[in-house]
Amino acid sequence: MVGTGYLGTAHAVGMAQLGHDVIAMDIEEEKIARLSACELPFFEPGLGELLRKSVESGRLRFTTSYDDIAGADVHFVCVGTPQLPDSFNADLRWVETAFAELARRVAGPAIIVGKSTVPVGTARRMADVVREQAAGSLVEVAWNPEFLREGHAVQDTLQPDRLIFGVESRWAEKMLRAVYQSIIEDGCPLVVTDYATAELVKVSANTFLAMKISFINAVAQICEATGASVLPLAEALGYDERIGRRFLGPGLGFGGGCLPKDVRALCACATDLGLDAVATFIRQIDTVNLSRRDRALGIGRELLGGAYAGKRVCVLGAAFKPNTDDVRDSPAIAVGVAAHREGARVVMYDPVALNTARRMHPELEYGDTIVEAARDADLVMVLTDWTEFDDMNPALLSEVVRSRNVLDGRNALAPERWRAAGWTYRA
Ligand code: UGA
Repeated sequence: MVGTGYLGTAHAVGMAQLGHDVIAMDIEEEKIARLSACELPFFEPGLGELLRKSVESGRLRFTTSYDDIAGADVHFVCVGTPQLPDSFNADLRWVETAFAELARRVAGPAIIVGKSTVPVGTARRMADVVREQAAGSLVEVAWNPEFLREGHAVQDTLQPDRLIFGVESRWAEKMLRAVYQSIIEDGCPLVVTDYATAELVKVSANTFLAMKISFINAVAQICEATGASVLPLAEALGYDERIGRRFLGPGLGFGGGCLPKDVRALCACATDLGLDAVATFIRQIDTVNLSRRDRALGIGRELLGGAYAGKRVCVLGAAFKPNTDDVRDSPAIAVGVAAHREGARVVMYDPVALNTARRMHPELEYGDTIVEAARDADLVMVLTDWTEFDDMNPALLSEVVRSRNVLDGRNALAPERWRAAGWTYRA
């Protein structure tokens, strides 16, 4: 395994659980030291326990050296592909480095499998690099995208809903079938295809999910303007099996390290291909999504009587979604930071993401409990849908806030309960 971020760690542990002998490599020494000591560098339910079991069984070890992994039969490249700072394109430098380093060392017969999310065409380029370096020996490239969700990494790795193999030979397919044998025998659907299709499956899946969220958020704006109610509307749409209820949750929209960057990368791909109408279509998914943050900020402003300046705002939620400590492109943080910039004193609370948020946004204040964050607040904003927030008692919170104003950015609270306790509730 090359790269022990979120995906690489989950996959390494998953492969060890399937009975394989796994060695995982990362250039970050501190990360490898923590993983070797069975300590997860991030929050993920259930994964820490399986990490410990895998290490103790001797089936999983860690290294910082490419030389230590060169002898493996199957290499998974799981390094990150974040958005470039100055464009919509993905930064491929870590993928390119990983393939180049492996190509120089792997003697074969072996297969190098890309799992990172990449623009279409990357696998072909990497295969050319490998072919050039490994001339004469059997070293093949395959692309095998993953679909794991943060907060569900264990389940998504050990019981995926589908497997995609982008391969160029029967031999590469056979190797991958052997790796995933027990999962395939359990009935997991398998699609065997070419490199380009395998690469596109991943970004298309994420863009489709993002489109569902932006669709319901676009309809939510029409509901807001006409007095209709988006929640029963989403429920009614969801009963149509062709549409489905999941990912029709209206609110502050999507964030994280995947959906936003993948939508933008697909948009950049369409632009590069000269498919302007397609690019415009995909671009709107992002535009609608980002507009939700402004709308939330606007409703907050209204609740405060017109301005944030001098007000105290409690933001509940920092993670981009519940059950993770990941704050990358977090809508909750974006709104909190914007309120701070408009002059509010923002105090944030999150059940697990406080440390990551604090590191990235030292300008905000942080409370160790809901009550601490809400003390003397003029406005409480619920911006990540942790169950801890759904269960809050508005009567208890009434005793600590200055004004009973609540903005429910995730449609997570029971409005009647809050209104009955004297709160002005907006969603
Ligand atoms: C996403 C995909 O769901 C995974 O299948 C994929 O493997 C992963 O990206 C990846 O590319 O690695 P993840 O980023 O963990 O997984 O998060 P999601 O569960 O997809 O949620 C994304 C965002 O959408 C969150 O901010 C969430 O709050 C928001 N969301 C989700 C909504 O606003 N409304 C909804 O109805 C659902």
